[in-house]
Amino acid sequence: MDLVWLALIGFLALLNPRLEIHKQLILLAIGLFQIFDRKLLASLPAGRRNAYIVLIKILLATVLVGHTGTPTPSASPYWLIYYVPVVSAATLFEAGGTLLWTAIASAAYCSYLIPELQEFELTPAGETELALRVLFLFLAAIIVNQFATENRRQAESYRRLAEELAVTNQRLQQAQEEVRRNERLAALGQLTAGVAHEIRNPLGVIKGSAEMLAQKISAEDALAGELAGYISSEVDRLNGIVSRFLDFARPLQLHCRRESVPALLDRALKAVSDGRKQNGVRVERNYDASLEDVPVDADLCEQVFTNLAINAYQAMGEHGGTLRISARPAHSDGRRGVEIEFADTGPGVPAELREQIFNPFFTTKREGTGLGLSIVSRIIDEHGGSIRLASEPGEGARFRIFLPAD
Ligand SMILES: Nc1ncnc2c1ncn2[C@@H]1O[C@H](COP(=O)(O)OP(=O)(O)OP(=O)(O)O)[C@@H](O)[C@H]1O
Ligand SMILES: [Mg+2]
Repeated sequence: MDLVWLALIGFLALLNPRLEIHKQLILLAIGLFQIFDRKLLASLPAGRRNAYIVLIKILLATVLVGHTGTPTPSASPYWLIYYVPVVSAATLFEAGGTLLWTAIASAAYCSYLIPELQEFELTPAGETELALRVLFLFLAAIIVNQFATENRRQAESYRRLAEELAVTNQRLQQAQEEVRRNERLAALGQLTAGVAHEIRNPLGVIKGSAEMLAQKISAEDALAGELAGYISSEVDRLNGIVSRFLDFARPLQLHCRRESVPALLDRALKAVSDGRKQNGVRVERNYDASLEDVPVDADLCEQVFTNLAINAYQAMGEHGGTLRISARPAHSDGRRGVEIEFADTGPGVPAELREQIFNPFFTTKREGTGLGLSIVSRIIDEHGGSIRLASEPGEGARFRIFLPAD
């Protein structure tokens, strides 16, 4: 389009008066300013820039008309050049601004009448011609402005649509990730349930036998007694792991009652801190006073909070740190509920593990089963809530849970 502009300006230059150097220079200025207006005024804020663009075009048009009219500037056939600033204003401003700038362009054109009327007289035919020219300027301005406004409105609605699409896309991706996670959970769950169930019975027999052995022979043979004790305690540990597997695999039966989240949190935190000697961990609680009770299964929720607290204690290790727990009213996907956050000052979760930590059997601990977070996530899902890792890599882990209130 820039080339077309220059070609049009070139044609205008070829027309009479051809030897008027000022006319040619002004035409060149009009052509160049039309192409580079935004770049030339780029340093100005948008509102002022648009006003300057139109103003400069009106000035250039007025100078061109002044150099091309014979016997007077207002008789110049180049008066149509005023369409350039008028159409620019119509595309850059709303209706009010367009009318104002068209009035200014018309006034600039008519201003030549002031000196001219001292020498010439305005005939009725001349008056009509002048009025027609001005009215056509307004007509063109209004039509272009209508188109431009409609265009802007559509561009705005497309922009909003694109934004909504981006958000929906992101949600879709999250949902797909969740579905993949749930599929993996389901398959592994069935397998685990079968294996764990089968292991439980022989374990019972081994433990019973070991205890009997211990009773029978400990009096005669201390070493055998000690070994039988090991068998029994290791069977207990195995039983614990199997129970965890079964917790994970068993279909959940929710017995929901309206419960106070802070009370559940406190119970879980007490159980976790009572069960460990490590006291370098400071627990900070921040419960919103306006929290309402939410319908949850108290035992399962306590299990969720216990798992998250144990993970945090383990992550902070011997050195200790601070575990911040907060609960506040929140909204998610248009539902009311409670948002609970567990934030620790441990090493956090590296970026490459974020996707995996909720998978069953994923663990970075020597003695871990990797089932804690998958049980947590399953319980929260069953409650219609959500859990996500809200921290960035490089900071302590921050898990955010949402539990719906109805
Ligand atoms: N607070 C945390 N800080 C850093 N990493 C964490 C935190 N919580 C969980 N993780 C990471 O997520 C992994 C999975 O946690 P999850 O609770 O599912 O299993 P686990 O704690 O390893 O074993 P289990 O809970 O079954 O004893 C952990 O091994 C650890 O790498
Ligand atoms: Mg764990």
